[in-house]
Amino acid sequence: MAEKGRVCVAGAGGYIASWVVKLLLSKGYIVHGTVRDPGDEKNAHLKKLEKASDNLKFLKADLLQYEALCHAFEGCNGVFQTASPVPPMTVVNPEVELMEPVVKGPFNVLKACAEAKVKRVVVVSSGAAVDMSPRWPERKVKDETFWSDKECCRATKNWYCLSKTEAESVAFEYAKTSGLDVVTVCPTLVLEPIPAVHYKCK
Ligand SMILES: NC(=O)c1ccc[n+]([C@@H]2O[C@H](COP(=O)([O-])OP(=O)(O)OC[C@H]3O[C@@H](n4cnc5c(N)ncnc54)[C@H](OP(=O)(O)O)[C@@H]3O)[C@@H](O)[C@H]2O)c1
Repeated sequence: MAEKGRVCVAGAGGYIASWVVKLLLSKGYIVHGTVRDPGDEKNAHLKKLEKASDNLKFLKADLLQYEALCHAFEGCNGVFQTASPVPPMTVVNPEVELMEPVVKGPFNVLKACAEAKVKRVVVVSSGAAVDMSPRWPERKVKDETFWSDKECCRATKNWYCLSKTEAESVAFEYAKTSGLDVVTVCPTLVLEPIPAVHYKCK
């Protein structure tokens, strides 16, 4: 099958990301997968995916390492941004511990995408960025105009909802000011087999 192009999956070893990597490889893409620790056994399942030995390249990058992200995105047409702190979250100082990777991280990803002239960025957001608002009228459909209430998230110490809502704001603001083609998806609960250490992708 002819090479379709290069796509980067940021946070490639994660649950959803592993399925994205598998799908991209199966469709003939060359995949750049960023992980924080390429040597970590928890990422080993990716190497066993079909075509991984030829078409999957591991790159070490934390969301806070801008230069590493730029390097990872070089030559890529598309980037899937899935890397994000996820629950359970035990945070002592959320504004520092969480907001740094959650706000600065996605900003770094988008800026590095613009720098690398990536054509489209898909940000994996969450229903958590939409759902947390006590003021939403009953039965009214939630759409792109509506996001979780950040003050409500803070007051209820719902750091995950807050982090995903902040990340959405960052993504849309950056897309507006830079012209970068950014798409966000807001899944609720994702139920697939876990393609990691104790499981394998079918
Ligand atoms: N699973 C669901 O039901 C669900 C539902 C809605 C939305 N989502 C969203 O989907 C995305 C992926 O979730 P998941 O369930 O696949 O979670 P996951 O398996 O825990 O994957 C999260 C990934 O993010 C990486 N990560 C965390 N902080 C990072 C940082 N500072 N720099 C670089 N990488 C970092 C982790 O890398 P390490 O392995 O190095 O820690 C891990 O690979 C998240 O954005 C989540 O909010 C998930």
